[in-house]
Amino acid sequence: MSDSKGKQIDFLLSGKEDKFLMDQIQEYKTSELPSQIEKQFVYDVYNKIAPHFSETRYKPWPQVVKFLDSLEDASLVADVGCGNGKYLRCGSEERLIMIGTDIAENLLKICKSKNGEVFTADSLKLPVKENSVDHAISIAVLHHFSNDLQRKRAIKELLRIVRPGGKVLVTVWAYEQDKKFPKQDLFVPWNLQDNFHKKNLDEGIEEDIKIQKPDKDDMVEKYHDEDKHAVVYKRYYHLFVDGELKKLLTDIPNAELIDYFYNKDNWCIIIKKTH
Ligand SMILES: C[S@@+](CC[C@H](N)C(=O)[O-])C[C@H]1O[C@@H](n2cnc3c(N)ncnc32)[C@H](O)[C@@H]1O
Repeated sequence: MSDSKGKQIDFLLSGKEDKFLMDQIQEYKTSELPSQIEKQFVYDVYNKIAPHFSETRYKPWPQVVKFLDSLEDASLVADVGCGNGKYLRCGSEERLIMIGTDIAENLLKICKSKNGEVFTADSLKLPVKENSVDHAISIAVLHHFSNDLQRKRAIKELLRIVRPGGKVLVTVWAYEQDKKFPKQDLFVPWNLQDNFHKKNLDEGIEEDIKIQKPDKDDMVEKYHDEDKHAVVYKRYYHLFVDGELKKLLTDIPNAELIDYFYNKDNWCIIIKKTH
């Protein structure tokens, strides 16, 4: 598996990590709203890594631009889980009205510094009236939810806010990649470089991380890796298998499947809100 710059990255899943994760998923499997997993291993991490993450995520993905380019002029489009707002300024915004929303305030600060129209929100509970936008995208967000109830709810929220006839594009990381994964649920590390960590310390965003790399079988939430000159954070991912994303539409009465495809390690779906 490689990141957007083609660097090789490893997933983390020692025996202890796996057990911890499986126990947590089991404990929160009926929780339709964010659980400890999302709070600790997704939201909190994105807030800590925001400037570093943003530096590596600047290239819009052609499939998303193609979708945006297919929408009518002056459409109001919500980017739910917009990250650093790269789709709010990918060229399409000249024809469309783009608004972004994310749970990580530090990523939204970056959007605002580039004049993005954004607000803080949990994509499981969008503070937006129904039928109030024309179309929506949610790129690389749903794989951060730890159970099907949440994943389905995220799709229902997207469909709730778009108008009848509106379209929604959702993409998630695929389990089927060149790299073979041991499981669908795992931690993917983010190596926060020391210079970004130092900046976070100065700004009071992070505390000093004194924990060193643990033994192979131990699990810590984060640690400082001397060799990498970085603080290693864990991000929770649920990798989708073929068909899983499509299956989330089952029993959603106003969802019509328009397209479903695989592109560059991701499963993608385009849904239309019928009524
Ligand atoms: C892999 S990043 C993708 C960001 C952006 N969509 C892109 O394509 O560059 C995942 C994003 O999902 C956001 N996120 C995760 N869970 C969320 C939630 N419950 N509500 C809103 N945003 C969420 C994270 O803060 C992060 O910005």
